[in-house]
Amino acid sequence: MATPIAAKHVEKLARHRIDPNDITYTCDTQKEVVLDIVRQFTLSTEKLHEIKANFQEGMRKGLAKDGETLAMITSFGSFLALDVGGTNLRVVNVLLGGSGQISTRQAKYKIDEALKVGPAKALFVDEHQIRVHGGSAIQMGFTFSFPVLQTSINRGTLITWTKGFNASGMVGKDPVIMLQDAFNRRHVPVQVAALVNDTVGTLLAYAYNNPETAIGVIFGTGTNGAYIEQVDRIPKWRGPSQEREMIINMEFGAFDKERAVLPLTMFDNKLDRKSVNPSKQLFEKMIAGMYLGEITRNVLLHLIDRRLVFNGNISSDLNQMWTFETAYMSAIEADSTPTLHHTKKILEATLNFPPTSLNDRQIVKLVVELVGRRAARLGGVALAAILDHTGDYTQKTAIGIDGSLYEFYPSFDTDLLDCIEEMLGAEARQNVSIGLAQDGSGVGAALCALLASRNGDH
Ligand code: BGC
Repeated sequence: MATPIAAKHVEKLARHRIDPNDITYTCDTQKEVVLDIVRQFTLSTEKLHEIKANFQEGMRKGLAKDGETLAMITSFGSFLALDVGGTNLRVVNVLLGGSGQISTRQAKYKIDEALKVGPAKALFVDEHQIRVHGGSAIQMGFTFSFPVLQTSINRGTLITWTKGFNASGMVGKDPVIMLQDAFNRRHVPVQVAALVNDTVGTLLAYAYNNPETAIGVIFGTGTNGAYIEQVDRIPKWRGPSQEREMIINMEFGAFDKERAVLPLTMFDNKLDRKSVNPSKQLFEKMIAGMYLGEITRNVLLHLIDRRLVFNGNISSDLNQMWTFETAYMSAIEADSTPTLHHTKKILEATLNFPPTSLNDRQIVKLVVELVGRRAARLGGVALAAILDHTGDYTQKTAIGIDGSLYEFYPSFDTDLLDCIEEMLGAEARQNVSIGLAQDGSGVGAALCALLASRNGDH
């Protein structure tokens, strides 16, 4: 389930960055405007510290009270992970216990041939042991990757849609009830026993193989993080007092709704205004895969409109929103050919630009790099803020990450680690490891029979 960082590097494209000083500019104005864009997208260490301090303040506020910008949503109970292999079925009880870390207890069962082909069976857990019983409904864990204010292990209400979703009539409703009703209507014998955010799933999935895991993060279409918090540091927690630790779904994509500290450019503001959720999820809009291509497109349009690239020619494709995909950015970042051949292909063959010059392509590559690097550094600040808040970076600690941006964007992982070191020093670099929790976000599915709390809340 978890792949160490070294292995991942093998399959991923390496990044080749352009130095703005190495570009032969076509005129002074071009140089001036491009260097101004470089300035707007470059985050100094000082700025990163300012953002980090603000982020930590937001964490404290969200832990104290509901309704704050960082929702800091408490998760419930202990979790069961189910791993159905070809021969064995492994059930792992993930406990948020004692020592500041997740501990796991697992039991292995040989899968009965009758079970493999027979009707669905349910899994149950009780206080003392994990048992497999026959039953009429499958207990299912439901990964719902949106901000949900949880009221119990399988109950909650959608606070707001994110990531371009805007289906009507859902905000304020319980996604579990909606899903359960759909199953019931179709007589599907499934009971939704647990509701998990993808970050929480990622944390649990990664902890399965790396017991020192303290944080789960998504860098994909959207972005967000979950971490393990001491209950006595959660003033708003009114649940059972025997719980000493709790996973917090931070919903950090919502950070800085107040626009107090994020260095939003006109290109970000343009994207925000045209999005389905204006003035929401501003941090997410600077980091997540859904938006990076669109920010890049906005910068390129600015340069085109000023006739500073492509001879002022525009491809009609680029006039449409969302046409510059974040996947193109990965290929352009990785382009190490002297003529920027791969960049040329994307611009001319995919986006239908008339023939481009090397200067055009260098500038496109530079813009891509600026947008991508800023995203990774902002993501790094979030990680550094959490690590500093918990103090976990002073000991060996692991961060499980899932999402296409992390998986495929060249050197996103290196930029994250560099940023953590820049913020927290060499000790953090030595102690903190990050890795891909593959399909961590599908853990609601992969941890499919994730069951309710030991008290049987549902
Ligand atoms: C949602 C989070 C989710 C994240 C990553 C955000 O837009 O609000 O709940 O964890 O995307 O999928």
